[in-house]
Amino acid sequence: MIEQLESLFDSFEKSLQVLETQADVLNLKSDYLGKKGKVSEILKGLKDATPEQRKEIGPKANEIKDKIQLEMTKKLQEIEMKEINEKLAQNKIDITFKNSIKVGAQKHGGFHPRTLIRQEIEDIFLSMGFEVLDGPHVENEFYNFEALNIPGDHPARDMQDTFWFKDEKSEEGKKHLLRTHTSTVQVHGMLSRKPPFRFIAPGTVFRCERTDASHEMVFQQLEGMMVGKDISVGNLIYFMKVALKEIFKRDVEVRLRPGFFPFVEPGFELDIKCQVCSGKGCSVCKQTGWVELLPCGMVHPNVLKAGGIDPEEYNGFAFGLGLDRLVMMKYGIDDIRHLQSGDLRFNEQFKTY
Ligand code: DAH
Repeated sequence: MIEQLESLFDSFEKSLQVLETQADVLNLKSDYLGKKGKVSEILKGLKDATPEQRKEIGPKANEIKDKIQLEMTKKLQEIEMKEINEKLAQNKIDITFKNSIKVGAQKHGGFHPRTLIRQEIEDIFLSMGFEVLDGPHVENEFYNFEALNIPGDHPARDMQDTFWFKDEKSEEGKKHLLRTHTSTVQVHGMLSRKPPFRFIAPGTVFRCERTDASHEMVFQQLEGMMVGKDISVGNLIYFMKVALKEIFKRDVEVRLRPGFFPFVEPGFELDIKCQVCSGKGCSVCKQTGWVELLPCGMVHPNVLKAGGIDPEEYNGFAFGLGLDRLVMMKYGIDDIRHLQSGDLRFNEQFKTY
């Protein structure tokens, strides 16, 4: 019986070796250790054994049972580890995403050159203590004209061809329009804060004009206003020069001419040397070598009054930068119509990454 038990263990080991699943191992266990298993089968012969033989066979049988149990536990663990490793290999998470996303296959968007310049100018003015304001596109004539010292019969209304709305007037009986300039934000800005203050207001404006290389019906301006005590033309020139130098990353030649705008007195036209042709003459500068970039001046007392500010106590300056012109100068673009052509070949040249 001892020999039988030993050869039983050998055959168990051989069978165990080739098994691959936990279920098969458990089946093998019941084949050997179960009530009707092979070990019990052999032990049935105990009834014919002598007491001496029994003393020997009993411990041997227990030893074989323990060995079988031990081998099986090892095998079960081995199979479990193998299964875990296989699962891990299959469900590997690729934290580099190299295999899931084809790098380079995706098209990246980019900022429009107008946005790039607007953000840059906003940063420059923010660093000089200015706020950045926004204002509505649809206005009424109070904000676009009257508060800016352009009453109903004033010839200056004809300077800017306006898109008027046909609908009813505002509560105060004012006609609605699409703002022709960002100077409207001067009025909102003054009415909603107390001096001293300084702000810029970039945004879209609309004019019922014929388009050509340097004119569009929808374009961008950037308004600026500073109100406080004892502000001078010197302050105005200083801020303009610093801003232009920052924008162009070099000294830009400028010239100042007297200019008329009803909302400033005195008013100026600040021109810069054409950066597209370096002053030689091209379609952007209309062959003059200079580009009108920045009308500005000292805020008219009537405008301060309309904004609820006492002109005896406070004064200030204002300017209106042609953002599209600036984009054209900075990037050497010779036709304003490219800017909103929607042509991706144009837009993609300005990607910063
Ligand atoms: N709003 C004027 C325009 O669109 C530009 C302008 C001129 C703005 C003089 C100003 C200014 O603030 O002081 O033509």
